[in-house]
Amino acid sequence: MNAPVIPIHVLADPAGPPGPRPQRTRRERPVTAQALAAVRGAIGASPLRRDLLIELLHALNDRFGQLQTDHLAALAELLRLSQAEVYEVASFYHHFDVVRENANGGFDAPPRLTVRVCDGLSCEMAGARDLLQRLPALLDADVRVIAAPCIGRCEQAPAVAVHQHPVARATVESVVHAVQAGLTTHATQETPPAIGLDAYQAAGGYQTLAACLSGQRDVESVIQSLEHSGLRGLGGAGFPAGRKWRIVRDQPAPRLMAVNIDEGEPGTFKDRHYLERDPHRFLEGMLLAAWAVGIDAIYIYLRDEYHGCRALLERELALLKASAVMAGMPNIATIELRRGAGAYICGEESAMIESIEGKRGMPRLRPPYVAQVGLFGRPTLAHNFETLFWVRDILEKGGDWFAGHGRHGRKGLRSFSVSGRVNKPGVHLAPAGITLRELVHEYCGGLPPGHELYAYLPGGASGGILPASLADVPLDFDTLQAHGSFIGSAAIVVLSQHDRATDAARNLMAFFEHESCGQCTPCRSGTAKVRELIAGDRWDAALLAELSQVMRDASICGLGQAAPNPVDSVIKYFPQELA
Ligand SMILES: Cc1cc2nc3c(=O)[nH]c(=O)nc-3n(C[C@H](O)[C@H](O)[C@H](O)COP(=O)(O)O)c2cc1C
Ligand code: SF4
Repeated sequence: MNAPVIPIHVLADPAGPPGPRPQRTRRERPVTAQALAAVRGAIGASPLRRDLLIELLHALNDRFGQLQTDHLAALAELLRLSQAEVYEVASFYHHFDVVRENANGGFDAPPRLTVRVCDGLSCEMAGARDLLQRLPALLDADVRVIAAPCIGRCEQAPAVAVHQHPVARATVESVVHAVQAGLTTHATQETPPAIGLDAYQAAGGYQTLAACLSGQRDVESVIQSLEHSGLRGLGGAGFPAGRKWRIVRDQPAPRLMAVNIDEGEPGTFKDRHYLERDPHRFLEGMLLAAWAVGIDAIYIYLRDEYHGCRALLERELALLKASAVMAGMPNIATIELRRGAGAYICGEESAMIESIEGKRGMPRLRPPYVAQVGLFGRPTLAHNFETLFWVRDILEKGGDWFAGHGRHGRKGLRSFSVSGRVNKPGVHLAPAGITLRELVHEYCGGLPPGHELYAYLPGGASGGILPASLADVPLDFDTLQAHGSFIGSAAIVVLSQHDRATDAARNLMAFFEHESCGQCTPCRSGTAKVRELIAGDRWDAALLAELSQVMRDASICGLGQAAPNPVDSVIKYFPQELA
């Protein structure tokens, strides 16, 4: 028998309703009435829950263009938290600009506008450095131009965000035009129209869910279909989805679900691609999983860079919640959409859970696994967006349909995010096990004139760099490990003879150093040290190998463990660049 469903606000605040605020220490700053009024005005009627801290910080950052320390102190007062707790969260996330008083005791005005130039590998190869150098001189002094880690638009490289407005294939002229024309919202010509709730239902959407809810389909047969399909987690780790459903279902209620749309791995943009086009296919998959596993509350974590997706999901979720679909799911106490704040590490599932709880995104030590002790201490089903996206199709068409695809002895479908030196960058749905050579020629229109395949990244920043001589290896989970590499989220970046693997490794290591959460020394110091060691043309291979081993063995999470991959790949496959 299921345990009684616990009200969600108790889950969200395991300590119970807020009690008196802890005594303010002598070192804490006084809270002014003015700051309290400003904060109250910005956060409006939002509940004062600790787990909503990041949402509340967004409200302040959006309203004032920055986070002033007097406002942080006032927010701490309202949330009955120590000022240190609020400050440490605010200063952890890259999208929050924490500012202190100036010499006059006031606060400098924030920049009027921020232009973020993506300096991810694909954008760097397409000219991001040139944009970063030239733009500041061409824009007004109150426009801030900064480099941003991969913004998930690698097929549009070089990609730039003018406030929330994405500029695809950016040139100096197009960015200056966007700034001068005041194009700052998420609207863009590049975004295709999404299939809304009505159109989705008219085409048979939510029928599979209805069949489950009405008892036409039972949980065991649904989980068996999923197992039969061979669907594995598409966030990178590749854990079998059906098995995960069984594990979480066997845990005591209440069980929660955390949906991962952080999509921060440089080179990856598949989740955005599908979300922009067909949001309800994902939402139906999410509800099917919630039904099969017996989930009581769902939290969707969406990266902050995807402003258009956020608006779309807010709209479609509101329609869904008001529709008859949700009336059939009274067990789901809440579906909350949470906004990331610019931290790659929050894609790691336990860091995502910390972030949803309103904390710094620092990965947890395991065991216990999140399936047992996850969000708010409850068993949690954590899934990547795309894993859920395929659930409806698999249940409708059968596990054989999904498993029936595949090449070179592999099974299933993979959504490859392809960028770099190809004629048709984008998301290409192809059989699992396809080789890089086949993928580029059959799906991506080959390489541009004057370019020949030199190297490729099979799994984004973390998956290593392989030479052209390994372009005939099947691309799938478990096929690349022997080559010191992995497919991860299937983010393929293609390099030609005009690129250098050493440059790519420098770009990726700078990214890892920037994004390390700093919790453990092998990763925090290791990424910085490796970046220094590879800055020149002569690399100390023995020292790098030693450092790489320490990072792999002793880092807490996958970021630090995989960070040495690109450097190890260069030493193994591209020694000619180091001669
Ligand atoms: C450093 C790091 C970053 C990650 N980023 C993401 C991400 O952006 N999106 C994602 O779905 N999974 C990401 N993952 C994998 C998640 O930890 C987790 O395995 C996944 O969300 C589980 O869902 P799945 O089984 O459906 O793939 C990341 C893992 C690591 C170590
Ligand atoms: S490996 Fe890096 S990102 Fe992961 S917990 Fe350690 S410091 Fe943080």
